[in-house]
Amino acid sequence: MIISSISTQTTLPSEDENSSLGFLFPENSEKTHPTQLEEKDRAILVHLFLSPEKDIENLTEFQTLAHSAGVEVLATLTTSRSTPHAKYFVGTGKAEEIQQAVEALSANLVLVNHELSPSQTRNLSALCGCRVVDRTGLILDIFAQRARNYEGKLQVELAQLKHLSTRLVRRLGKQDQQKGGAVGLRGPGETQLETDRRLIKVRIQQLQRRLEKVNQQRHQNRKTRQKADIPTVSLVGYTNAGKSTLFNTLTQADVYAADQLFATLDPTLRRLQLPEVGTTIFADTVGFIRNLPHDLVSAFKSTLQETCEATLLLHVIDAADARKLENISAVNQVLDEIGANEVPILQVYNKIDALPAISPFIERDENGKPIAVYLSAQSGLGVDLLHQAICERLRNTLVTKQLLLPPTSGQIYAQFYQHHCIKQERFNEFGDRLLTIEVDEIQWQKWLKQYPQLTEYLEFAQWA
Ligand code: GTP
Repeated sequence: MIISSISTQTTLPSEDENSSLGFLFPENSEKTHPTQLEEKDRAILVHLFLSPEKDIENLTEFQTLAHSAGVEVLATLTTSRSTPHAKYFVGTGKAEEIQQAVEALSANLVLVNHELSPSQTRNLSALCGCRVVDRTGLILDIFAQRARNYEGKLQVELAQLKHLSTRLVRRLGKQDQQKGGAVGLRGPGETQLETDRRLIKVRIQQLQRRLEKVNQQRHQNRKTRQKADIPTVSLVGYTNAGKSTLFNTLTQADVYAADQLFATLDPTLRRLQLPEVGTTIFADTVGFIRNLPHDLVSAFKSTLQETCEATLLLHVIDAADARKLENISAVNQVLDEIGANEVPILQVYNKIDALPAISPFIERDENGKPIAVYLSAQSGLGVDLLHQAICERLRNTLVTKQLLLPPTSGQIYAQFYQHHCIKQERFNEFGDRLLTIEVDEIQWQKWLKQYPQLTEYLEFAQWA
């Protein structure tokens, strides 16, 4: 008999809108989610080396992930294979070894550092007689534990449900199928699996509706900031790079910084006055990780939107991490994925106190533009240089543009006029305005986002 660990614990209540799955997925974070790892979980870690060059750091990171989830690691079993085994992901012999370790060490959880198919999870779980959670499940669990605000909780729950919905299996037992005993209710009835699926679908829709409302509010706030011309500096980076520590040092806020992966989940916004720039909003965001579960990226889209619409990104990098180059490319990949690759970036190499003989400094490109700052967020060393570099990057760099504005674009013209950026103006025979404007680059980028038609007007001017 094969019963998934998830489904055996999933007792779904009635389908009432407000309380549907209320027991399963309580709004109150004190109660535990059935897929959520418990603090006292005693786990066997499993890692498969799929290439001859053994990636030990990947394994170390996985151990840190397990630690971040509050799991007690009893043993780590590794093995090498060129391809995953269809039934258990690891080979049959290794699977039996895992089962023996579970028994010998009284483990109640097996954590596998890979994405398992629902059937592999089920098979391994049936063999070991305990829960099996894959890498995605583990990351989702950490996110569930860390989410602090309403939006964060909704997003994590949505991602968990999407992950869970593909992993539901049929439960065998007396009550698997409801059978009607009264007129109109007779027939085969709905299986428990069908009920589970239906309820999860209902809950997903409910969460999506709630998130949509929060998104609208967030969008409105961003629009207000854009209208008020307030630049936003968003901190991004691989998890544990030191974003929150830097955020705290920069803004003197008291954001939770801990030596755990994904200590921060909800973007935190702070207002700061910068010389020659004025009011600036700083946003601390969720940490990135390679192979970030897809459901999570999509669930966190609105939070990450803050990143896409930032004026400047501070990409915080742990300079002392041996895998810093891979971490940088993992972050760039997520930025690509969420459409934030066009936003200007200032790299921040953090933790230089952990490296021998590096003093804080600003790295510049051939035009003298700051592109990276080396500092220590913890000791505060070099944070003044970061302030300076941010100011330089946000301060006016003028760009000149030629545009052909049709008569219908009065609103854009009014904006140019208010910003005193019109250098030349003439009309063609159709009443279009041929304009030369000189404006600071950041303002220009904002307008481009606000009025996408400007790209067309630039092209028209070339033909005029
Ligand atoms: P997530 O929330 O997981 O994305 O992490 P984060 O990037 O916000 O990192 P956080 O600020 O929580 O810091 C992670 C760990 O790095 C903590 O233990 C910090 O004390 C440590 N840390 C941060 N900055 C420095 C630094 O300049 N030097 C050293 N040595 N450690 C630092």
